[in-house]
This record gives sequence, structure tokens and C-alpha cells, in this order.
Amino acid sequence: MADFVGAVDQGTTSTRFMIFDHNGNEVGRHQLEHEQILPQAGWVEHNPVEIWERTSAVIRTAMNSLGLDASDLAALGITNQRETTVVWNRRTGRPYYNAIVWQDTRTDRIASALDRDGRGDIIRRKAGLPPATYFSGGKIQWILENVDGVRAAAENGDAIFGNTDTWLLWNLTGGPDGGVHVTDVTNASRTMLMDLETLDWDDELLSLFNIPRAMLPEIRPSSDPTRYGVTLAGGPLGGEVPLTADLGDQQAATVGQVCFTPGEAKNTYGTGNFMLLNTGTDIVRSKHGLLTTVAYRFGDEAPVYALEGSIAVTGSAVQWLRDQLGIISGAAQSEALARQVEDNGGVYFVPAFSGLFAPYWRSDARGAIVGLSRYNTNAHLARATLESICYQTRDVAEAMAQDSGVSLDVLKVDGGVTANSLCMQLQADILGVPVSRPVVAETTALGAAYAAGLAVGFWKNTDELRENWNEHQRWSPTWSPERREDGYAKWKKAVGRTLDWVD
Ligand code: G3P
Repeated sequence: MADFVGAVDQGTTSTRFMIFDHNGNEVGRHQLEHEQILPQAGWVEHNPVEIWERTSAVIRTAMNSLGLDASDLAALGITNQRETTVVWNRRTGRPYYNAIVWQDTRTDRIASALDRDGRGDIIRRKAGLPPATYFSGGKIQWILENVDGVRAAAENGDAIFGNTDTWLLWNLTGGPDGGVHVTDVTNASRTMLMDLETLDWDDELLSLFNIPRAMLPEIRPSSDPTRYGVTLAGGPLGGEVPLTADLGDQQAATVGQVCFTPGEAKNTYGTGNFMLLNTGTDIVRSKHGLLTTVAYRFGDEAPVYALEGSIAVTGSAVQWLRDQLGIISGAAQSEALARQVEDNGGVYFVPAFSGLFAPYWRSDARGAIVGLSRYNTNAHLARATLESICYQTRDVAEAMAQDSGVSLDVLKVDGGVTANSLCMQLQADILGVPVSRPVVAETTALGAAYAAGLAVGFWKNTDELRENWNEHQRWSPTWSPERREDGYAKWKKAVGRTLDWVD
């Protein structure tokens, strides 16, 4: 058996290729950014051809720099930004339109119409999702309705859909010359088109968006011993490697954090935050503003589900301090500035820049800074910004506890903001539970590698993966219960000030 497993992590701002050994340690990587195309307010697009070129380049560069070839990789896994929608021609390989990114809000009228006549409840019941611009279904509908020739080509099977996982798998396995058209259950669970119980595309859901079934990929397990296909000798790996894993990035991070037992959760801190709680084989339907999603499915084992709290603005609130207010020069400085003061000085900042996502789902909300007095400084605002990341996480954690009846014992964290030690200490204080960060912080790529390696016996089982998980740092709560609850009550009051702002 080869010594390593590879993983492509196709994210919102960049694509990276990482190589791991049997201990789950990183052996090498390469990463490239791609263009964020912003044609008008609320629209966010990527060029799918650029994404494929960047993917090929990062694979080639990482393999060459280590002197490795295809025979050194036991398997290859793919993980990806979820929901981002590509439609292309299966004969020519050319996209009909740019990829419409998960953050894009052009389908707001499609989404709000669904909730006016009860169709939204069908989506909630079957797909586990509230109708929202976030998911793929409305984006596919928009392309079918607005791009010339796509509807007819979709009806006859020439125009096909995929998220970026499907796009890359198709290209890696031959593109127009026999590329496979597949996705996995986790990505499919973000479209509003898959029934969570059958794990298949659902005709009633497809009819809500008028999407022809012929354009949809086959839904496969997230880790698949029967493999989706093999890479081509003429492709970026220069040889055949089995493609055996495909998961959405937040689900991959859940696997990378070895959250395999019901009740285990991870929280990834990036531009936004995504907290996923493993609910086992039970489909827990949220009554408190969370999404129900598939966490992973390994081979023919029963699927494992999760509750997800998606928060739109966390790390990007720190970027706002830097780019719009200019009170810090870089993300790291937010910690130094916030450390200049003992507490928030009474200031609460709710960064509802695009409304509020989970658990509120209020598109009418807008950001607010409240509690100001003349005493306050930039340092209080920096501290309130870090606290806003942690309070939003608490909102989601509370919803999870209410939905699942399970309270967190410890919160496993990963992502860029976890480098901010003050923020992680505040998280423990505000949540009242310890916060734990693993040694390997690249949990997304690691999770895809784990799923790929499990499928080919590189790792025997999930127990072996658990042994690879090592804590790097832990932050324990220090606030008194009174301080914690007083702070949270004020946060909730501040959230109330942001609502009903937009008519
Ligand atoms: O649902 C969106 C999420 O998958 C995006 O993750 O890390 O690519 O911004 P990321």
C-alpha cells in the first residue's frame, strides 16, 4: 500500500491540495486563490474553468515539490465549498455560466416566493432546509431561466449540474471523454432537492424548481470503496489514483475532528462560522432555526446526520474593523487591541451585515453597535467584535441544545480565527464549556483524506482515526455564571435592536 493519501479542498476563496501520512500528519501542500467575480450588489460568481486550472496546478506543484507520483497515493478525496452551482455541457465540457456562489443573493425572490404559498414547508420537511438563497436549487433554476439554451440542453441531458465537487470529479476522470457525473450525500443535502430519508433526488422537490432530473449527478456515499473513478494518466497526478471520497467542507471538518459519536460537535471559524452536531442516524428536525444535513455516509453503512448552525459574519467582522474602519492593520492585531481593556466596557456589536443567519434567519436585520458611552475606545470595539463571534456561537449552541436535548461537554474548534487566543478564551467564558483545538488545524482536508483512506483500507476504522486526534490547546471557562448570563442577556437585547431595520 502507498504511504500517503491526498485531498483537494476546493474552498470559497482558494483551492488547496494536501498530502497526509498514516498518522494524519501533513506531508505537503500547495494552495492558490481564484478570482471573486462581483458583477453587481449581492451577486458572487467564480469561473469554473479557473477553479479546475487552479486545482490541477496545486496538485502538480505539491506532488512535484515532494518528488511524489501517483503510485505514492493510496487514494484521493475531494472536499468543497458547498452549494456553489455549476452547469456545463457534457459534450464540450464548457460551463454555460459562471459558478453562482453560496453567498450570492440573486435568488431572493425565488426563495421568498416559496414561503408565501406553503411550498417552503415541503422543503423543510423533506430536505431539512429553510428556503433560502444559500442553497443550490434556486441557483439552478435561475440559470435555467436566464441563460439561453440551457433549458433545452438540460431536458435532453446535455446540460448537467454539479457543485464544485462534481465539477472536479468529472474533470479528473476524463471530462467530455467519459468523466463521471457524481456527487455525495452531504453535498446533495445542500441543494433543497434531496429527500433526507431516501437520500435520492425527490420529484416533488424538483418540480418546485422546475429542474429536469436528467441534469443531476448520481448521489453516492461520502466514502466509497467502489470508488467514483480513477484519475487519468494525462491528468495532474500523471497516473491512476482511486477517487474514493467526496464531502462538503463543513462535513469533512466534522470527520477531520473525528466527531463520530452522537453529541460530538465541531465549530469552524472562517469568514463565517459553521457548527455541526452529530445526531447519529436520527434525522433531527430543527424547531430552533438550525439546518438538518447529512454529516457523512461511509460505504453502505447507515448515513449519519447533523444539525448545523450557519453564521454568515464572524471572521469577516474582524476584516471589517481592518478594511472599513481602519482601526487594526491585520487580523492578529485585533487580539492585541482587545487585550488593552479588561472587558467590553458595556459595548455590544451585532454584525448583521447581511441580515442574521442561524438561528434567527432574519433578512431584515442590519448591524448595530450598542451600549456606547464617551468612555469607550477602539479597544472596546475590538473586544466587542471578538465577543460577537462567541455570542453568535452561543446562540447556535443554545438552539442545538434545545433541538437535540444534548448539551456540549466540550467544543472542538478549527479555522483561522482559532489562532486568536483571546477569542477562544472568550468563547469558553461565554459558552461556559471548554474549547479545544487539535494539533492538525486543517481539519477539512484531513477529513476528506480520512474518508478516502477508509474506503481503501489505508485506515482500518474510525477508532484508528480517533487515535490520530491530539489536542493542541484547551481554554477553560473563567467567568462566574452571573457574569456569563448577564453578558448573554445584554447580547440578546442588542440582537433585538438589529431587527425590523429593513422594510
Ligand atoms: O456553506 C458554505 C461553506 O461550505 C463555505 O465554506 O470554507 O469554503 O468558506 P468555505
